[in-house]
Amino acid sequence: MERVWWKEAIGYELYPKSFKDTNGDGIGDLKGIIEKLPYLKELGIDLLWICPFYLSPMRDNGYDVEDYYAVDPQFGSMEDMDALLARAEELGIRVITDMVLNHTSDRHRWFQEALKDPKSKYRDYYIFKESKERPSNARSCFGGSVWEKVEGDVWYYHTFDKTQPDLNWECKELRQEIYRILNYWLDKGVSGFRMDAITYIKKGDSLKDAEPQGEDGLHDVADIGLNQPGIGEFLLEMRKECIDGRDAMTVAEAPGVPYDKIGEFIGENGYFSMIFDFSYADIDLAPGGNWYYQADWTFPQLKKLIFHSQSSVQRQGWGAIYLENHDQSRSLNKYFRDKAARPYEVRKRFLQSTALGTLLFGLRGTVFLYQGEELGMTNCPFASIDEFDDLNTIDQYYRALKAGCDEKKALKFVNDRSRDNSRTPYPWSSKKNGGFTEGTPWLKMNPDYRENNAQRQQKEEGSTFKFYQRLIRLRKEKADILVYGTIEEIQVENGPVIAFSRKTESGKTISIYINMGEEEEKLPAEDGKCLSCNYGDMIFKENTLILRPYEAVMMEKTQD
Ligand code: GLC
Ligand code: CA
Repeated sequence: MERVWWKEAIGYELYPKSFKDTNGDGIGDLKGIIEKLPYLKELGIDLLWICPFYLSPMRDNGYDVEDYYAVDPQFGSMEDMDALLARAEELGIRVITDMVLNHTSDRHRWFQEALKDPKSKYRDYYIFKESKERPSNARSCFGGSVWEKVEGDVWYYHTFDKTQPDLNWECKELRQEIYRILNYWLDKGVSGFRMDAITYIKKGDSLKDAEPQGEDGLHDVADIGLNQPGIGEFLLEMRKECIDGRDAMTVAEAPGVPYDKIGEFIGENGYFSMIFDFSYADIDLAPGGNWYYQADWTFPQLKKLIFHSQSSVQRQGWGAIYLENHDQSRSLNKYFRDKAARPYEVRKRFLQSTALGTLLFGLRGTVFLYQGEELGMTNCPFASIDEFDDLNTIDQYYRALKAGCDEKKALKFVNDRSRDNSRTPYPWSSKKNGGFTEGTPWLKMNPDYRENNAQRQQKEEGSTFKFYQRLIRLRKEKADILVYGTIEEIQVENGPVIAFSRKTESGKTISIYINMGEEEEKLPAEDGKCLSCNYGDMIFKENTLILRPYEAVMMEKTQD
């Protein structure tokens, strides 16, 4: 078994704007991250993914970069970043940064130069087209056409907001600029990157008209703009120019990679160390990209997606596992829907969040937690559209109204799906504003912070935080099985029970059973040594495992 640090690492995605504010402006900052690194260490984290902190006009919370070589003043300075990297290293925590390379902000110098002078070399850094008509009917991820008119008959292309013009990777000089950026950060001491929206960099089908979907006559760019032929050449070149020969890793946001191609991305000689798979994170959405078409899914479907993903990845390489991120609603609400624990249901919150935790730490792949997941945080109730910040949410709200939903319904859909659910400021304590800020938080706090916060959970033995801490320890201790072992689904008749085993070549086995339902479930199973159980101890009677509501167990086969 060849040991690889990034396979064993426990990742944590950190959204700087909402983590910890130290200067009272209501916005989290790098000094705040430094202050809280020991907390992450205590939890067992050793790989930190920090969302964008570069200079940005913040139309899309930093995913619109104005300067890749500068820290946005609202987060601090480059000295703070250096101090953060140094402190993390002292604590044995690696840091990866979020690289947004599909597009820049329209305020980036390159784009400004390109606009100013059509003859400038920077024109070729972006995708400009001269055309009387809109060049194609692709719909951008945040609504409206991907094309924006600048002057005369000239348009530029944007996969996301119109303030996020796409870069033209066909331009060699641009690619060299990109590699310079990556190497700058690697030289500074980061251990790699999370690659934002990277499967959009090659343009192809979305430059042509496609069958209209819905009232606007447009077609979702996610259907026609991802993984276009030839993308591999760019990705391979990037890996060779920046990653090869270094002790670094990459994790790519790569929706839409078909499983039969996944080896090219994450196999032995793949473009990335690992990618995130969206197949089950988006189980609640119907195709088409509209939040008001919710999918009515079942647990057996969820299981099918999880194990299809796990077995395809296992055959071809290494994956990254997550249940939450800064673009998703909270996992308790997503996976338990109307059964998700309410703020005062402390016990239920514990059971549900530890059931999900057992799943997460049981699966094969590098685990990434998202901030607040270790507290079992739930969605935040937003009472009106004015309480949201996220541009995607606001667009989806008006799209729902246009499609005929009344305001109440539209508000319900965005409450269910809004990216702001996971972006609410971090609840550190029961103090005012959860100890996140002395000022006014930039986004509403989840009002349950008085009952649910880090300080309280760190003290209580039976908290989600403590349970996750133990799961992390277990995963490290039993890395031969829980990290490197193979995974196989255990077929059970019980709909809401997710069951699987992890195995080493020498036959060491851990079986994992999770009851996602609110009823007791009985199933045949082989007894073993209980390694983890969110009820304290498991119940076995005559080769039958009895799983109480939301019970989750990990047990090790006793060696014969
Ligand atoms: C990715 C990010 C998301 C951002 C988008 C555009 O999907 O995760 O937050 O809005 O890219 O950069
Ligand atoms: Ca601040």
